[in-house]
Amino acid sequence: MELTERGRSRTPQFMTNLPILIHPDPRLKKVCDPVADLDDDLRKLADNMLATMYDAPGIGLAAPQVGVTKRILVMDCVKEEGETPKPMVLINPEVLQSSDETNEYEEGCLSIPDQFGMVTRPAEVRVGYLDRDGNPQERDFDGLWATCVQHEIDHLNGKLFIDYLGSVRRQMITQKMKKLKRERARG
Ligand code: NI
Repeated sequence: MELTERGRSRTPQFMTNLPILIHPDPRLKKVCDPVADLDDDLRKLADNMLATMYDAPGIGLAAPQVGVTKRILVMDCVKEEGETPKPMVLINPEVLQSSDETNEYEEGCLSIPDQFGMVTRPAEVRVGYLDRDGNPQERDFDGLWATCVQHEIDHLNGKLFIDYLGSVRRQMITQKMKKLKRERARG
């Protein structure tokens, strides 16, 4: 997920930045496969996804955004400069419980750069997942973390935040992204 206010950019050393796919792209529309075997290659992928996310800068990134259609996401919603980073790797994440109370947040996405829209989601969610070491975890998220984890889990199901917007606004944003991709292709 991209933030409206750009905060910090932290690139951990010895990691690789991966190219981020820009909408529209068929790989961003796929339902991703569960991770059956968490090996060193996937751990390395998760580390590189974190590096890519920090560098963007963003607060969340899902594997399909770097062209890997597996159920892996990374996030760190600590956005204040000087605060201790809280990098998280979530493998096969699943929303177990959602609050009735909702929260509205102006979302953005690293695959849809510089476009933002208000999205309403449950204010609190409980998520089950495997951590970077493959241990099962359960965690409650609220505030920006809740918004971000739901946004990223959507990616694993081929869903983008613009799918929550009206069709006119969605098409307008899609046209802008097509133009951006043409410009980038031209160099
Ligand atoms: Ni996104």
